Amino acid sequence: MLPRCLLQILALSLSVTATVVPRANPVAISLTARKVSRGRTLHKRSSDYFSSSSGKGKGLSPTNVPLKDFFNGTDLQWTGPLEVGTPPQTFTVVFDTGSDTLEVPSTACGAPCANQHSFDPTKSSTFIDGGDDTVTTLVFGTGGGVTPVIGDNTELTVRGAFDTVSVGGLTAKNVSFFTIINQTAIFAPDPYDGIQGLSSDAQGFLGGVIQEGLPSLFSLLLTPDKVGHADLLLGGIDHTKFEGELTYASLPSPAFGEWVLLSPGMKVNGEPLIVANNSRFMIFDSGTSNMILPQSDAEAVYARISPDIKPNPDEPGTFGIACSKIPYLQAEITFTFTSQAGHPFDLTIPSSELSVGPFANNPSLCQTLINADEFTLLGASLLKHYYSVWDIGGQRMGFAKNGA
Ligand SMILES: *[C@@H]1O[C@H](CO)[C@@H](O)[C@H](O)[C@H]1NC(C)=O
Ligand SMILES: *[C@@H]1O[C@H](CO)[C@@H](O)[C@H](O)[C@H]1NC(C)=O
Ligand SMILES: *[C@@H]1O[C@H](CO)[C@@H](O)[C@H](O)[C@H]1NC(C)=O
Ligand SMILES: *[C@@H]1O[C@H](CO)[C@@H](O)[C@H](O)[C@H]1NC(C)=O
Repeated sequence: MLPRCLLQILALSLSVTATVVPRANPVAISLTARKVSRGRTLHKRSSDYFSSSSGKGKGLSPTNVPLKDFFNGTDLQWTGPLEVGTPPQTFTVVFDTGSDTLEVPSTACGAPCANQHSFDPTKSSTFIDGGDDTVTTLVFGTGGGVTPVIGDNTELTVRGAFDTVSVGGLTAKNVSFFTIINQTAIFAPDPYDGIQGLSSDAQGFLGGVIQEGLPSLFSLLLTPDKVGHADLLLGGIDHTKFEGELTYASLPSPAFGEWVLLSPGMKVNGEPLIVANNSRFMIFDSGTSNMILPQSDAEAVYARISPDIKPNPDEPGTFGIACSKIPYLQAEITFTFTSQAGHPFDLTIPSSELSVGPFANNPSLCQTLINADEFTLLGASLLKHYYSVWDIGGQRMGFAKNGA
């Protein structure tokens, strides 16, 4: 979870990351005690690892975390289990490449968190409270669903803490994390308790297990509900889950904890789409369901698909079309990237992702997958069609066609 101001100062067009974006969060930095610096050791560990999906040498072995597809019309969100404390208290979290810390509801939250499982610090013998001056707010750039974030409506009030965190049997001790002590109403219906950030600078739990020797990468298989078996593989690559070879692309350097790649161009239904600035940094966010482009680019893409796709004034930032027209539309959206070998390669969202479901207040109008905002982001509508490797040590991302 990166402060928005940091990204702006650094002049990348990455003004917002993902599910979680604290706009002002001075405290978070002082809490990231286990932050792993980018560097040689990590690079070595991860590159040693690429040819295998089982543990090598000493340290921790890769572990599979089965993910559950939350299917409610959209088929675009995956969650899995995580434990905090001693003895462990179990939570369902989103594994979010668009943020970097862990947040779980606290028993101190009360009514606003009543739909979620709450962490009780008094029941954990390893819990360390961060103190009153670690209370802060985290404002997210996107939420769990497909609805645009408006102002600060997606905000957690959190308190810093340290405790043992385990995922899939891997354990990191004294991990810096946040307990949620209040949240805006938008979080209440979420089918998960908390958020585990998986940023490209591996903080918190992920930083901890990498320090203990886990190879510094993870892989995601985010399959549609009808396929099932979605999973997160921490520390490895499962070569049985994809077809062909992985194509790798380097993150910009420095990447500031983002998973982001420069895309030199975009196509709609196979035809290049020329817009004002054809290059863009695309954030890859497993915690966001749909995708986000600047308004003018979103309009240009939609104009190629159908003149009937129009902004929905009831929900600024969204677009829609009569649901009855969706089945007849060709709507393949392709982003081109550049491989480490210097060759262009394409990642494509098929037509089947065009609709993210009917608008709640107008069920015959279907929301289309691109929302307009001030940043550019690819979420689950793309990631569910590829096996993806998130290589922290190598500061690169790998993609191959899902073989599941
Ligand atoms: C946990 O980490 C914090 C921050 O680095 C440190 O102050 C504290 O002493 C650590 N506690 C234990 C039990 O290791
Ligand atoms: C599933 O979607 C329906 C229709 O949009 C909504 O009423 C319901 O609250 C959703 N369920 C959950 C658990 O979000
Ligand atoms: C919790 O947040 C809500 C806004 O979502 C606010 O109205 C309420 O006063 C807050 N509660 C506390 C105890 O701070
Ligand atoms: C075009 O976008 C790229 C990537 O975001 C950026 O580096 C470049 O400065 C932009 N060029 C212009 C003219 O805006």
